[in-house]
Amino acid sequence: MANFKDNELVNKIVASNNIVDIISDYINLEHKGKNFFGVCPFHDDHSPSMSVSPEKNIFKCFSCGASGNSITFLMDYLRIDFKEALKILADRVGISLDNSFTKKKVNSELEELYKINELAVSIFKNNLASSSGKEARDYLKKRGLNEETIKYFNIGLAINNSISSALSSKYSKEVLENLDLCKSYGDKIYDTFINRIIFPICDKDKNVIGFTGRIYREEDKNESKYLNTKETNIFKKGNILYNLNNAKEYIRKEKEIIICEGQMDTIRLHTIGFDNVVSLSGTSITKEQIDLINSLKCDIILNLDQDDAGKSATITLGDAFTALGKNVNVIVFKDAKDTDELVLKKGEESFKNAYKNRVSFINFKLDYLKNNKNLNDSVELSKYINAAIDSLNKINDEVLIELKLKEISDRYGVSISTLKSKIIKKEKKVVVNTKPKETKRYTGYQKAELRMIYLMLNNEDVIISYENNLGFLVTQEFTDFANEILEFKMKNGEFNLSDFITYVYQNGLNNLLKEVMEDGGPEDYTEEELDYLINIIKRTTVENEIKRLRKIQKESLDEEEKKNIAKKIENMRKEVLTWYKK
Ligand code: UTP
Ligand code: MN
Repeated sequence: MANFKDNELVNKIVASNNIVDIISDYINLEHKGKNFFGVCPFHDDHSPSMSVSPEKNIFKCFSCGASGNSITFLMDYLRIDFKEALKILADRVGISLDNSFTKKKVNSELEELYKINELAVSIFKNNLASSSGKEARDYLKKRGLNEETIKYFNIGLAINNSISSALSSKYSKEVLENLDLCKSYGDKIYDTFINRIIFPICDKDKNVIGFTGRIYREEDKNESKYLNTKETNIFKKGNILYNLNNAKEYIRKEKEIIICEGQMDTIRLHTIGFDNVVSLSGTSITKEQIDLINSLKCDIILNLDQDDAGKSATITLGDAFTALGKNVNVIVFKDAKDTDELVLKKGEESFKNAYKNRVSFINFKLDYLKNNKNLNDSVELSKYINAAIDSLNKINDEVLIELKLKEISDRYGVSISTLKSKIIKKEKKVVVNTKPKETKRYTGYQKAELRMIYLMLNNEDVIISYENNLGFLVTQEFTDFANEILEFKMKNGEFNLSDFITYVYQNGLNNLLKEVMEDGGPEDYTEEELDYLINIIKRTTVENEIKRLRKIQKESLDEEEKKNIAKKIENMRKEVLTWYKK
C-alpha cells in the first residue's frame, strides 16, 4: 500500500482546483441547487445524469456509476495516466512538480539508459555554447532559430568525440555502443555523431531515447543530411513522433494535431506559435505511429511537404485516419517545398493563411486523383470518377457524399442516379461506445454491504459506527474496502472523499468504488436504516459461520470435537434469533 503521506501534495493540488471548472472545460454543466449537472461522458447518454458537487469536489453519474474527483475525471476522460492528470491540475494552480512526480516509474535499467542520454544532451548543449560551436551557432541563426527555440528543443552540437571522452570513463563501452552514442573499433572508441547539429528525440513521457544530427558545415555537404540513432533498446524508430513530448498537452487543449514531415517544420512552427505539432521524420508512417496518434483523440491536420512524395504520403495517412473515423484536414500551400521554407521565405502569415484555409481530406483527395489525368478524354474521366466514388465510399457522411456527387454530376455531366448507383449503402451504425451495462446481481446481504460502504464514504459517523459495531463485512473484498476507508480516516484524522478517491485510483481499487457508487442511493440515512444494515451484516456473518462449522462437524471423526461444535452452533443460533427479532 502506498504511503498516505505521499499524497499530501497530490491532495493539495486536487483540493486547489474546483472540479466544476475542470469538468466544464470538456462538458457543459448546469447549476441546479447545490450541484451542477451534465451529460455523463462515460456512457452513451443524452440526459444530464452526472452530478458534480463543488462542495465535495467530486462527480458522480447516477446512471453508470462513474465517479471520482478532478484527477480521476481527467485520467478517464483524456485517457491519460495519474501523473499526467496531476500535472494538468498542478499547472492550473501554479504548483510545480518535481521530476519524481512527473516522470513515470520505469525500471532502473532503462532509467540508467535515459540518464546517460540526458548527460549526452548536456554535453551536446555545452558544445554548442562553447567556442567550438561558433560555426554551428551561426548556421542556426542563419536558419532563423533564436535562443529560446534552441533551448525549447534542447538543440546541441556534436563535435569530435566529446561524448566518448566525457562518458567512457564512467560507462562501459558496451552501454555507450548499445545506446549508439559511440562506436568502437578494437579498443578504440569514437562518437557516432560528429560535426552535426543535434536534436534530441524523446518519447511521449519526455525520456531522451535517441538523437538526430544534421550536417551544417559546407565541407560536409556530401554526407547524408541527417543521421539518426540506430535502433536500440530504447530507440524504436517506428514508435517515434518528434516533439510529442512537448506537443501532447497542446494537442489535448486544441483537440487537434498537426503532423509534419521534417523536424525542422515542427521547430519552425513553434517559432510562430504552433505547438500542437509533431514530425514523422520522413514520409512513411508505421502502424505504431498511427495507433499513437489515434490514441490522442483529436482531429488530424496533415501538413506534409508539398512535393509528390509528401502528397502521396498525405493520401496514405489521410486514408488510414479516415478509416479510423478521424476528422482529417490537409494544409496546402504554394511557393515552398515545406513549412520551414514557407515561413522563412513568405513569412508566418502565409502559413497561418494556409492553416486557416486547410481543406478537408476528401476534397484534397478528389483533387489529387485528377493529377496526371486528361479529363477531356472520356476513358480517363471515367477512371477518375470511379476512383472518386471509391473514396466517397470510404466516408461515413451521407450528406457530404450527396453534395460531392452533385458536384461531380454538374461538372462532368454524368447523371446523379448513375453516380448514386455506385455508392454502397452503409449500414446505419449506431455508435454506442459502452459495453452493455453489466448488472451484477447482488443478493440481499450484499446490497446491504454496498449500501453500508456507500454511507461510510459519505458520512464520517457511519465510519465510526462501522468501527464500533462491525469492523467486518460478509464479503472479504468488501471488508477489505471498508477497512481501507477506516484506515484512511485513522491515518488522516478525518475522512475526505475526494482524497480517498485519489488513493483508490492509485491503488487500483477503482472497480470496487464504481460498484459501490452505482445505485448507491441517497447520501444520508436514518438511525433505523443503519441498525438494519448492521443487523443484516452481523446476522449473515454468523449464519455463514454456522454453515462453516456444520461442515467441519460433519467431516470430523472426533466425537468430542463434534459435540463442542454442536454447542457452539447452538449458541450462535440463539444469537441470530435475537437479531431476527430486532
Ligand atoms: P527533408 O529532406 O525534407 O529534410 O527530410 P528537411 O526536413 O527539409 O530538413 P532541412 O530543412 O533540410 O534541415 C525530411 C525528414 O526526413 C528525415 C529527417 O527526419 C528529415 O527531417 N531524413 C532526411 C533523414 O532521416 N535522413 C536524411 O538524410 C534526410
Ligand atoms: Mn526543410
